[in-house]
Amino acid sequence: MPMVEVENLEKDYGKVKALRGISFYINEGEIFGLIGPNGAGKSTTLKILATLLKPTGGRAKIAGHDVVKEAEGVRALISYLPEEAGAYKNLTGREYLEFMAKLYAKEEGKAKKMLELGVKLSGLGERLDDKVSTYSKGMTRKLLIARALMVKPKLAILDEPASGLDIVNAYEIRQTMRRFAREEGTTFLLSSHNMLEVEFLCDRVAMIAEGRIVELGTPEELKEKYNAENLEEVFMRAIGTEIPEPIGGEGS
Ligand SMILES: Nc1ncnc2c1ncn2[C@@H]1O[C@H](COP(=O)(O)OP(=O)(O)OP(=O)(O)O)[C@@H](O)[C@H]1O
Ligand SMILES: [Mg+2]
Repeated sequence: MPMVEVENLEKDYGKVKALRGISFYINEGEIFGLIGPNGAGKSTTLKILATLLKPTGGRAKIAGHDVVKEAEGVRALISYLPEEAGAYKNLTGREYLEFMAKLYAKEEGKAKKMLELGVKLSGLGERLDDKVSTYSKGMTRKLLIARALMVKPKLAILDEPASGLDIVNAYEIRQTMRRFAREEGTTFLLSSHNMLEVEFLCDRVAMIAEGRIVELGTPEELKEKYNAENLEEVFMRAIGTEIPEPIGGEGS
């Protein structure tokens, strides 16, 4: 059984058709990327799978559980990192992780282990004892990613996990995700606009534009199909936009 099954998912916000019937599946342990431009419907898809938003049409299942009818069962399996999330600003990073670990783990021993893992994953070192209100954007993001992964979810749904991270931190996060997928069997569904980053990280990607999936496959398959050097080129060709010639060539 796939970890994620999405069938003909539709979402209207009033007159705005954010999703116009998308379908895909994700196997257990796979790192799957949803990529596309602003307003394409990435966050909407992730919110529906995280049970925070009800679809207008279609179905989605996580490990066989319907995201609408069995939302409780789904929530027990997932971690969700929202696109724009803050942590409790008055706590220190460590207090925040501890609070979350205690909320999640039923016994103290488990909570302690979770916290230890969270501390390690955050990579924040001594800054973990400073108030979250003093963190930079990237530091907050690292804290929230640590929170999402320390509970060892079956499925991690991460909306633009690397947004705001510098290249070193983005690299480390990618390594962590790969390690989790390999060692824990964690399945990842993440969104990004950064096609090049996704190309290095994801086993398969779905390209989404205006609420429709325009291409889906492994980065290698897609590059071959479009005779493209990278996923950015694939995307431009898939949506039928020719890549403009550089300005200021000969004769201009
Ligand atoms: N709460 C809302 N009310 C009305 N329209 C919304 C709402 N949320 C999203 N939309 C619309 O739905 C469409 C898809 O938005 P969504 O946030 O899913 O895109 P996205 O791919 O995540 O974009 P971005 O890359 O900018 O985060 C957009 O046209 C957006 O304006
Ligand atoms: Mg978004």
